[in-house]
Amino acid sequence: MPITYNEEKKIFHLFNEQTSYIFSIFYDKYLVHCYWGKRVKDDDMLYHAKYYGTGMAPNPVDENPFFSLDSLTREYPGYGNSDMRNPAYHIELENGSTVIDLGYDSHRIRGGKPKLQGLPAAYVESEGEADTLEIDLIDSLIGLKVTLIYSVFNDYNAITRSVKFTNMGKETLKIHKALSANVDFSSADYEMLHLSGAWARECQVIRKPLTAGTQSIESARGTSSPQHNPFLAMLSSGTDETNGEAYGFSLVYSGNFVAQAEVNHHDITRVNIGINPFDFLWNLKPHDSFQTPEVVMVYSYQGIGGMSRIYHRLYRDRLCRGKYRDKLRPILINSWEAVYFDFNESTLLSLCKKSASIGIELFVLDDGWFGKRNDDTSSLGDWYVNKDKLPGGLKGLAEKVQENGMKFGLWVEPEMVSPDSELYREHPDWCIHVPNRKRTTGRSQLVLDFSRDDVCIAVLKMLGNILSTVPISYIKWDMNRHLSEIGSANLPPNQQRETAHRYILGVYNVLEKLTSAYPHVLFESCSAGGGRFDPAMLHYMPQTWTSDNTDAVQRLKIQHGTSIVYPASSIGAHVSAVPNHQTGRVTDLKFRNDVAMSGNFGYELDIRSLSDSEIKEVSYQIEMYKEIRDLVQFGDLYRLKDPFGDKDSSLLYVSSNTKRAVLFYFSVHTSCRYQHKLIKLVGLNPDVIYDVNELMYVQQDYEPSMIDQISMMTCDKRKSYYGDQLMHGGFQVPFKWGDFKSSVFLLKAHVEK
Ligand code: DGJ
Repeated sequence: MPITYNEEKKIFHLFNEQTSYIFSIFYDKYLVHCYWGKRVKDDDMLYHAKYYGTGMAPNPVDENPFFSLDSLTREYPGYGNSDMRNPAYHIELENGSTVIDLGYDSHRIRGGKPKLQGLPAAYVESEGEADTLEIDLIDSLIGLKVTLIYSVFNDYNAITRSVKFTNMGKETLKIHKALSANVDFSSADYEMLHLSGAWARECQVIRKPLTAGTQSIESARGTSSPQHNPFLAMLSSGTDETNGEAYGFSLVYSGNFVAQAEVNHHDITRVNIGINPFDFLWNLKPHDSFQTPEVVMVYSYQGIGGMSRIYHRLYRDRLCRGKYRDKLRPILINSWEAVYFDFNESTLLSLCKKSASIGIELFVLDDGWFGKRNDDTSSLGDWYVNKDKLPGGLKGLAEKVQENGMKFGLWVEPEMVSPDSELYREHPDWCIHVPNRKRTTGRSQLVLDFSRDDVCIAVLKMLGNILSTVPISYIKWDMNRHLSEIGSANLPPNQQRETAHRYILGVYNVLEKLTSAYPHVLFESCSAGGGRFDPAMLHYMPQTWTSDNTDAVQRLKIQHGTSIVYPASSIGAHVSAVPNHQTGRVTDLKFRNDVAMSGNFGYELDIRSLSDSEIKEVSYQIEMYKEIRDLVQFGDLYRLKDPFGDKDSSLLYVSSNTKRAVLFYFSVHTSCRYQHKLIKLVGLNPDVIYDVNELMYVQQDYEPSMIDQISMMTCDKRKSYYGDQLMHGGFQVPFKWGDFKSSVFLLKAHVEK
C-alpha cells in the first residue's frame, strides 16, 4: 500500500519507490503539509511544518498563541479565518459571508483510482496500479463537505490530486474559486519554470527565481491557450536537465486556468493550480457536488529531464487512451500548406499518389472541403461536402486514397460556426454570446455553445454522419479562436459565469462519445497549432498539432519546450516547404526532415513540387523514420543540448531495454572553428557496446567540399563504443559546413557476427 496513516501521530504518508509526500492533522482539524521529496523511510517529518506566532497574525487555537495559519504549510487552505495568503477555494454564502471553516472529518484509503465525473484524468487498468486517499473536510455550520482526493501510482512516480465540493446543507453556495491542489513549500529557494508564448511560438521555456509576492500564469481565453501551458514547475536551486530537484504541476484541463507561486513574509512558497477564478462563479445547489479537474504532480531528483520522463511515460500509458495509445503513429501528409483552400479531387489525388509512392501512410484532407469554403470567411458548421471540389464526395475521395494504399484522414473544426453559414442562419442563438452585445468574430467565426446539450447532440450527429459513411482513419480536430462575450442563451442570469467551464465540459462530453463510438479513428487535436496542447485533450486525442509554425529552426524551441511535459508521440512535427510560410526562412531539406523526425513525423508541403533528387532524399528519410519511429515515439527522451541556451541542440531517445537509441544533433549557426562537437550521452547501458551509424542520405552527385575532406580526415573512424565511453567520454559529432545542419545517429547494441 503506497498510502499509510499513522494513527498515533496523525500522519499521512503517500509514497512510491522514489517519492514521499507527507502531511498531518494538527489540533484534530487542520491539514498541515510536512514534506514532498525523495522517499524517506520514517513518516515523521513534522519538524518541517513550522508556525511562527509573529506580529499581527491571528491565532485560531485559543490555547496556543503561537499557532498561526498564516505561516503554516497547509494542504488545502481557505480564506477568512487567519490565513492571509492566496486561498485554494473561496465560497460565498447566502448571507454574503465568504468565511468558511473546514476541519478534518474522516478519510478512506483504497486500492485503484476513481474516475472523475465528466472530466478527463489519468487512469489505472487494474486496482493494484495505484492507491487513493480521500479526506473529507467539513464545515458543519453550512453543511459543506470538501473531499481531497489523492492517488499514488506505484510504477509512475506521480501523485494526482483533485477536490470534490459537496453541498449537504440547505442553501445554495456560490463557488468563486475551487483550485485542484495546493502545496506549501517550506522555503522560497526555487526557480519557477513555465511554458509560455503565443500563436506560432508555443511552449517557450521560461525560468526565473522566485521573489516575494505572487508570480503566476493564467488563461482567461476559454482555452488552456498558447500564451501559457497549464503547467508549472518548481526547481531547487542549481537544478538542470540531469541533476537536482524538480516539482511539476500539470493540470488536466483545457479551459481557463491559473497556476501561481506566492512567496510570503516567512519565505514559505505557496503553489496552487486549478480553474481560473477570474469570471468564474458556480452555483452549488443543495445535494449537488462540484468536481475540480485533476492535477498531476511529479517529483524528480534527476532534474528537469527526470521529471519529463515521468510525465512522458504516465501520459503515454495512463492518460492517452484507445487503439493508438501503444501503436506506432502513421507518417502523414497534410494538404494545408500544400494547397490551402485551392484544390479539387484531381489535385488531391495527384498529391496522394506521389505521397504513396514514397511510403507516406496517411493522407489528410485539411480545411476547405465543405460548404462553400474557399477561404476562411464562411461555412463552419455546414459540414456537408462541396461537390464542386469533390464530385464523388468524401467517400469517393477516401476510397481512391485507399486504392493508392494510404489511409484517409479529415480536418474538422466542430466547435465553431461562421456567421456566413446555413447553421448560423438557422440557429443564431447556438453560439457563445451575450444579449444585446456585438458578437465579436475571430478569423470570421464564432464559437458554438457547447454548454448546451442540443448543440452537442447536433455536433455529434453531424460528425457521426461523416464517420459512419466515409472510411476515415484519422480526424484532425481544430479550434481556431478564443472565447469572447462569454455567455449562454440557455443559462439563467445567475449561472452565466458557469458558461466557460460548462463549455469545456461539453467539449469533453462530445469527445468522450465520439472517441468511444469510433475507436478505430486516430484523433489529433489542434488549436491553431498548440493553442490547446494540454493533458486533457491528450486523454481523448493522443496527438496534437504542435504549432502552426513549421519553420525548422523555430520548431527546435517549440518542440523542446513542449517535450518538458508531453511525450514525442504526441508532438506532431511536419516537414514543410521553403521559404517557410511563417518565417520566410530557407533551410536544407535534411535539416527540416531531421527536426520533424524528432517528433511525430509527417509532411505538409506540395510534394509534387520537389525535384527528383529531393524526392529520393525524402523517400530515404521516410524509410529512416520507420526504422527509428518506435524509439522516438516510445523511447526515453534525454535532452542533451538546449536550443534556448546553446547555439546547438541535441536530443537522444533510448529504448526501454537500452539496446537501441537515436541521437539527433542540430547546429543552427556555424562558426569557422571546424570542430567536431563532443557531446556526452545519457541513459545508455554502460556495459553494452553500441554500433553507431549516421543516418545520412548521400546524393549521387555528392562531391565532398574541402571542408568535408578536412572533416573526414579528422573524423573519428570508430563505429563502436561502450555505453560508458559515450556517456563519460562523449561522442564526436562530425562538423558540418554551413548553417542549419543536422546529424542523426542510430545506436544499436553490437551483435557478434
Ligand atoms: C489551423 C491549423 O493549425 C492548421 O494546421 C490548419 O488546419 C488551419 N487551421 C486550417 O484552417
